[in-house]
Amino acid sequence: MTIESKLNPLITQVEPSPIREFDGLISNIPGIIKLTLGEPDFPSPEAAKEAAINGINTNKTKYAPSPGTPDLLDNISDYLKRRYDLDYPKDQISVTVGATEALASAFLTILQPGDKVIVPNPMFSLYDTIIKIHGGEPIHIDTAENDFILSPEMIQKAVDENDGQVKAVLLNYPTNPTGVTWTYDEAKAIADICRENNLFVVSDEVYSEFVYDGEHVSMATLLPELTLLVNGVSKSHSMTGWRIGFLAGPENIMKYVAIGHQSLVTTASTVSQIAASAALEFGDDYIVEMREAFKERRDYFYDALTSVGFTIKNPNGAFYMFAEIPEDLNQDSFQFAVELAENAKVAGVPGNAFGVGGENYIRFSYAASLDEITEAADRIVKYVQSVRG
Ligand SMILES: Cc1ncc(COP(=O)(O)O)c(C=O)c1O
Repeated sequence: MTIESKLNPLITQVEPSPIREFDGLISNIPGIIKLTLGEPDFPSPEAAKEAAINGINTNKTKYAPSPGTPDLLDNISDYLKRRYDLDYPKDQISVTVGATEALASAFLTILQPGDKVIVPNPMFSLYDTIIKIHGGEPIHIDTAENDFILSPEMIQKAVDENDGQVKAVLLNYPTNPTGVTWTYDEAKAIADICRENNLFVVSDEVYSEFVYDGEHVSMATLLPELTLLVNGVSKSHSMTGWRIGFLAGPENIMKYVAIGHQSLVTTASTVSQIAASAALEFGDDYIVEMREAFKERRDYFYDALTSVGFTIKNPNGAFYMFAEIPEDLNQDSFQFAVELAENAKVAGVPGNAFGVGGENYIRFSYAASLDEITEAADRIVKYVQSVRG
């Protein structure tokens, strides 16, 4: 009997992400510019750093209450009201270890073995793993044909085809990896169909601060009674390493989330919570600065890529561009990404790493410095021209 056969199959049967294989192939290429990472290149806000240092020096280094420090819960509640017109009192919020733990706590709370979860694709690769290890079964919906926008008809079809077994929908907008986001009407249509079918919505809105034209509309304003809202400071405040996210939802669900969250982590790091609290209280201007910088990088990169024939649909959010490889190049997304890395010395992530609908695409993150973006764009353009002769 092998060790694996004695372990939990929900863990041992998870497929490794192609991103790791790709990373192994390209990481040692000298001089490569990596546009693969999903994190802003900005430092964390000064106010967050100072608050954390002060917290350490004044010995704020003991356990925090399980749902989070009162200060941070207040600041999350104020932030959600100020930015998205949401009304979540403190007892409807749980501070988590990154948005990742918010997702895990949400699915731990709502899923029973065999429950199905609709996941629009292409998707953030961790979603599949998180749903599966909590006993759920993802139903992938390919949105590529609809410019990467989920429609109510797609949800209804999946519900009808899976008679009574769909428990929830996992949404993510602005979307990783496509950079696409939704208008009010698009979000409202999704909220309505989920209400009609009584589906939970886990709404991952970690890129909500990075919408370049128009405003982010939170699912929680449209469907508060069924939505578990996932967000955090990792992306919005460039604080990926502090590991602070949060989950907000209806009181009658959050009281059970609290049990799951406590069993997973007890509470998030106290010092990180102090830092996140200061970031939310004092960081609005910093977000604006980042957003403007990303918009400039996006515009530059978009113009360069489209000038040599890449098609990029609606990159109005997050800091990703999901570029369709021109037909006269190698459209196998993995092969193209390897060729680009080896010859142009620019790394993007192969589109097939993000589930169905990603073949023929490559994802670039433009959260790198403007110098790197301009150099990368220049290299890609020259490479494509050289292939064409
Ligand atoms: C869509 C999405 N959700 C969640 C996360 C994880 O966020 P955190 O670092 O706060 O756990 C990421 C990180 O890349 C992401 O892209």
